[in-house]
Amino acid sequence: MKLSVIGCGYLGAVHAASMVELGHEVVGIDVDAAKISMLSEGRPPFFEPGLPEILKSAIASGRLRFSTDIADAKGATVHFIGVGTPQRKGEYAADLSYVNSAVDALIPYLSDGDLVVGKSTVPVGTAEVLAGRISASSGADLAWNPEFLREGYAVKDTIEPDRLVYGVPRGARGDRVTSILNAVYASAIANETPLVVTDYATAELVKVSANAFLATKISFINAMAEIADASGADVTQLADAIGFDARIGRRFLNAGVGFGGGCLPKDIRAFTARAEELGRGDSVAFLKEVDAINLRQRDRVVDMVVDALDGNVFQKRIAVLGLAFKPNSDDVRDSPALDVAIRLHGLGARVVATDPEAIANSQRLHPQLTFAETASEALKDADVVVVVTEWGAFRELVPSEVSKLTAGRVVIDGRNCLDATSWRDAGWTYRGMGRP
Ligand code: UDX
Repeated sequence: MKLSVIGCGYLGAVHAASMVELGHEVVGIDVDAAKISMLSEGRPPFFEPGLPEILKSAIASGRLRFSTDIADAKGATVHFIGVGTPQRKGEYAADLSYVNSAVDALIPYLSDGDLVVGKSTVPVGTAEVLAGRISASSGADLAWNPEFLREGYAVKDTIEPDRLVYGVPRGARGDRVTSILNAVYASAIANETPLVVTDYATAELVKVSANAFLATKISFINAMAEIADASGADVTQLADAIGFDARIGRRFLNAGVGFGGGCLPKDIRAFTARAEELGRGDSVAFLKEVDAINLRQRDRVVDMVVDALDGNVFQKRIAVLGLAFKPNSDDVRDSPALDVAIRLHGLGARVVATDPEAIANSQRLHPQLTFAETASEALKDADVVVVVTEWGAFRELVPSEVSKLTAGRVVIDGRNCLDATSWRDAGWTYRGMGRP
């Protein structure tokens, strides 16, 4: 099938290349000329494992091209909208301007029978409005097909999704839309991937409620970590024990410096704002608490460093290991790790931060920070070591080797990802989040 993908960020670029992998012909469109020129050369403008390989093979096959001209969407029959919906400046609500302008720019190039497929995360009610705009000026239909990909696993999550959700128009048009999407996702359908075909509002809400649930799960365990700290319990064992209950499950119960990234933080805020617009702010008022618990973890890590230095942070050398919001990503949007580095810098510490992939993005946002290309360089003469992103390279550090580099012997494990015993055995003071 001939597809267009409007918006070539983390979502769109992966979607475009993955759709070629599934046998389709794709044009990826974005207003950012620098991004399009990199993608055209087979170079993703961000770090995502597996993406460079499929991007290059897709381009070589002649079935993937990129353009800054929305007119190039003409001729495709299915048009995916994968532009960003960031938090509005100074507000909790989502900024829909990119979605609106993508749809408006696309409308003149739509042919009768085309299908526009929204993948961006939007406030419930958005698709209904867009469907009205599309049908008023074209013979095309709209589907809402939320994307659940995780950064770091984006290619696999796109090619082999764990479920498909289609929000479709009512009646016969809905059946037509469903059969087009089934053809797009033929391989996932053949693999009996669970499929939910529903209305627009449900499809939109599935996405925001999934992210709200995940955020709640993380803040729940971080709240338990606070209680564990106050009572001498161990939150990692607690998570294992409650996680054995199949109704609870162990995944997303890792206590630490909390969630960040381009989705969870802004999505729970946009959900709160939308619920308030709908007169149901009280229904999701708990998400404010989820947000507050999450942000508090950054304070906790900073306080642990301050405590470790008996309150004298000024000019102390601190090695911050991690900047990305999670491993296998170079994304520093709303990253707890970068935030901790900045806060410590703000207290007058001599912070040296490192990350296997996220230095360039961090430097762009915070050029005032000092960065080291390697962990060894960051660790040199450090008074305190803080781990805030659980990259394999940091988990595998050998405490006795680290001792040869650092001045101090205190490690703050902001991701509960180190082996406390081996660090203590090597003479270190180890402090985790909610661990005795
Ligand atoms: C998330 C959703 O998982 C995905 O389905 C959706 O499409 C987009 O948002 P992503 O932002 O890539 O994906 O990251 P995710 O793996 O969900 O992690 C989010 C944050 O939570 C990270 O900062 C991570 O470090 C943190 N986290 C995760 C925890 O603190 N503890 C955990 O147990 C799990």
